[in-house]
Amino acid sequence: MTNELIILGLALLTILLYKWSQRIRKHPLPPGPTAYPIVGCLPQMVRNKPVFRWMYNYMQTFKTEIACFRLGSVHVITVTSPQLARQFLKENDAVFSSRPETMSSRLTSNGYLTAVLTPAGDQWQKMKRIVVSEVLKNDVYQSLHAKRCEEADHLIRYVYNRCQQNGILSVRETAQLYCGGLIRKLVFGERFFGCGMEDGGQGVEEEKHMDALWTILLHTYGFAISDYVPFLEVFDLDGHNKIVTNALACMKKYQDPRIDKRVEMWRNGTRDKEDDILDILINLKDSNKDPLLSAQEIKAQVNEILLAAIDNPASAVEWALAEMMIEPSLLDLASKELDEVVGRERLVQESDLPQLNFIKACVKEAFRLHPVAPFNLPHVSTVDSVVSGYHIPKGSHVLLSRPGLGRNPKTWDDPLKFKPQRHTGQVLLHDPQLRILSFSTGLRGCPAIKLGSTMVTMLLARLVQGFSWTASSHTSLAHLVQSGSHMLLAQPLIAHVTPRLDSQLYQQIS
Ligand code: HEM
Repeated sequence: MTNELIILGLALLTILLYKWSQRIRKHPLPPGPTAYPIVGCLPQMVRNKPVFRWMYNYMQTFKTEIACFRLGSVHVITVTSPQLARQFLKENDAVFSSRPETMSSRLTSNGYLTAVLTPAGDQWQKMKRIVVSEVLKNDVYQSLHAKRCEEADHLIRYVYNRCQQNGILSVRETAQLYCGGLIRKLVFGERFFGCGMEDGGQGVEEEKHMDALWTILLHTYGFAISDYVPFLEVFDLDGHNKIVTNALACMKKYQDPRIDKRVEMWRNGTRDKEDDILDILINLKDSNKDPLLSAQEIKAQVNEILLAAIDNPASAVEWALAEMMIEPSLLDLASKELDEVVGRERLVQESDLPQLNFIKACVKEAFRLHPVAPFNLPHVSTVDSVVSGYHIPKGSHVLLSRPGLGRNPKTWDDPLKFKPQRHTGQVLLHDPQLRILSFSTGLRGCPAIKLGSTMVTMLLARLVQGFSWTASSHTSLAHLVQSGSHMLLAQPLIAHVTPRLDSQLYQQIS
């Protein structure tokens, strides 16, 4: 009787599964370019660089907000509308909560040991929990306040020194000095890996470290051929493997000896007080009081924390200042807000940031109009599903277009205009409704909204409060355009700066 019941149950299950798969197959794939057998659209992908522009152009030509590009055997689903984006990341969050396995993400996460790049599973859950509840928890955020203040002051010191020289400044380098210095300080307790420059600028070690970080950022999920046909990885047809391997070696050259040394200090008792994120990661214990993380896990997670902290804030502030220099009335409005909220007798502090709604609106507008990357990090579907009437096969890579969402004409009036005034009231930089993709949302959403928002708002607020900005003779504002190959300004923004506040204020922090 029991056996008969089991057989009956299995038969019913089979019928149900069959009906369900029939229902799914009834739905078409999203529209997309013709795919050849086996290779799919890979030949078009290889011919059309940068790949993201080819994808955008296809979607624009065929007036579709969702498309499917079959690359090898992988269905890459691109989305440009907030309404569709919500269907993926809110309504079907759990289904789309994995990440792809690719060459660059595997190398950077040291075989998927980390929180950002690791596909869904136990290791991702372990590391995400650690990042959320140990690294980013409120107590730690408070305890790192003094370090954040030191870097905000160092920013002013550096720009002021440049004013004393010729007043010509690369905003890109300055933003990287702040973001790189801050995250190195939070993780390793030190701003510079070397001695830095006499004027407070980055030394050769930081420049190399930062170049390596950007190289990895630009190549992670960078449409390498082997991401879609893994057995071709050994041939490294597009050279991505070599580029990423070299950049990682450079990062590790500076980071790993510091991590090894710190582990040893805790082991031999020459360090006994936690002072930064590295100490926290080293001291985590499992239920047997053994170290929770291996040295390999710590090194890989440190890589990711550094990568996560640099690109979004640095690029947003460079773009925001460029737009504000093109339209100086915006700079006036921002300075006026700082004068009203903070005054001119002291420098802006973190406690002021909630009230700086115009400054935050400028940052938010930069996130909306000039996101640092063409797509959000990919989400991978863990089962076959149907979204908006389309069949989305298991294993599809879902790419939300960041400018597609932020510039969507159905959501935003005059979408191509930099208009911070459109963000009113208490401005928050994240948008769970995905009308802007800043921190994203859901299971794979960014857990560092507070830290990220503080970093980027403080950077812009200090630059605008402390200094007056005009285009230098090196920069024609008419030529402030996006690069053809990525989303940054084609040329670094070079500006002329002069101090805005009483000289005593700058001297106090020198
Ligand atoms: C302004 C600064 C930042 C912005 C705009 C930002 C934005 C993002 C975005 C768009 C994602 C991908 C979300 C998705 O896949 O849907 C992400 C993921 C993530 N971010 Fe951030 N981020 C920032 C700073 C940071 C910082 C400083 C950390 C440091 C700890 C961090 C940690 C993470 C982690 C751990 C994830 C992966 C979550 C997961 O895959 O489960 N982010 N971030």
